[in-house]
Formats: sequence, structure tokens, C-alpha cells
Amino acid sequence: MISVAIDGPAGAGKSTLSRRVAEKLGYIYVDTGALYRTVGLKFINLGYDTELNCDIEEILSKTDIEIKYINGEQRVFLDKVDVSEDIRTPNASMMASAVSAKPPVRAFLLEMQRKLARGNNVVMDGRDIGTVVLPNATVKIFLTASVKARADRRYKELCEKGIETDYKSVYDDIEKRDYNDSHRDIAPLKPADDSVLADTTKLNVEQSLELLLKIVKEGIK
Ligand code: DC
Repeated sequence: MISVAIDGPAGAGKSTLSRRVAEKLGYIYVDTGALYRTVGLKFINLGYDTELNCDIEEILSKTDIEIKYINGEQRVFLDKVDVSEDIRTPNASMMASAVSAKPPVRAFLLEMQRKLARGNNVVMDGRDIGTVVLPNATVKIFLTASVKARADRRYKELCEKGIETDYKSVYDDIEKRDYNDSHRDIAPLKPADDSVLADTTKLNVEQSLELLLKIVKEGIK
């Protein structure tokens, strides 16, 4: 089986590009952030906040998460309910970030991610795919862009969606998330030693896609 691991900070275009790379290659796309978001939603539904003052392991033992591919698209199910849209709210993002720093949560999701890569050719994106989840991935890419480039893209996206915001808070938020993701004790965001760096600061989506496909084709030769 071939696995392409794509890690990188928030806002680098990982999901858009990973999905397109998977489509081109005919592999399945695994969005691992969706799994952390789904665990986050479970704790939201139970009434907890980001302090997570609860017995996390006990709750996880009563949590059922499944990934299904419907018409080639990844859908996530929490306790048999399709929550693929519900996990996209700002609240779910906050909780995903909080639960992702908890070792039992990472352990809970690890085998699910590895199993998908054992049974399928995958493009898997996240923060720790090349370093922890698939240390033997066929190709590892660390996808990044400057904070300014990522903030510009995110700001434009929010404006287009009609979501009111100011540029400074978008910029500060990206900086803060970078710091949190790369400074947590467990599975911090960092390039795997054998990853190829793809910097999209000066590239548009099509150029970035071209770059990634070139890296992947080199890697699976
Ligand atoms: O990529 P995303 O925004 O959907 O990820 C949601 C959260 O999950 C984010 O705060 C980082 C965390 N995450 C992680 O710790 N490890 C992964 N492999 C994927 C996501």
C-alpha cells in the first residue's frame, strides 16, 4: 500500500491540496483533523468545556467513531450519527484543539488512522502523520507557508463567506495556533526528518498542487 503523509500548520491549504492530490492519484483522502473534531464534539455534547474536567478515558470507552467513504467523500460518524458538518463550527475547532493535547485521545485515534493506511492507498493529512502515525509512509510532505500568506488566505476566505472579522485577529489566531500545535508535549507539529518541505507562500492553489504531485511522483518511483 502507498501512503502519502502531509503535515503542516493551520491554514497552509493542507485539506484542499491533499484532497486534490488523492483525487489525481485515485487514493482515499483521510482528513485526520476531522477525527479530533469528532472527539471534541462528543465532549461538547456531554456539556464539557475546554478545561475537560472529566474522566477522558471513561468517556472514550463509550465513544464510537467511524469513518465512511460515501461517493468518494469522507464522512465521520459519532455514535452512529453523521456529524461531518457539525464538526466545522468554531466551537468544535476549539474543542478539537483541546482534546488533541490529551494522550488518551491521541492513543484512541491512532489505530483507526493506521488501519485505514493498511487497507488502502491513502493521502493522509494532519500534524503528526509522518512523525507518529505513519513513520514508514511512502512519501512525507511538510506543507507550510508564511504566517502572513496563511493569514491573507484565511482572511479572504472569511470575507468571501460573509463572516465579519478583522485582519489582525486572523493573523494573531494563526500565530497562536502555530505556537500551541508545535509546543504541546505530545506529538507536536514538526517536520519528520525524512519529509520534503513544500512552501506555498508564493504559490497559488494550482501551482501548489503541481508542486505536491511532483514530490509524490518522485517519492513513489
Ligand atoms: O486540521 P484541523 O483544523 O481540522 O484540526 C483540528 C485540530 O486537531 C487542530 O487543533 C490540531 C488537531 N490535530 C492534531 O493534533 N493531529 C492531527 N493529526 C490532526 C489534527
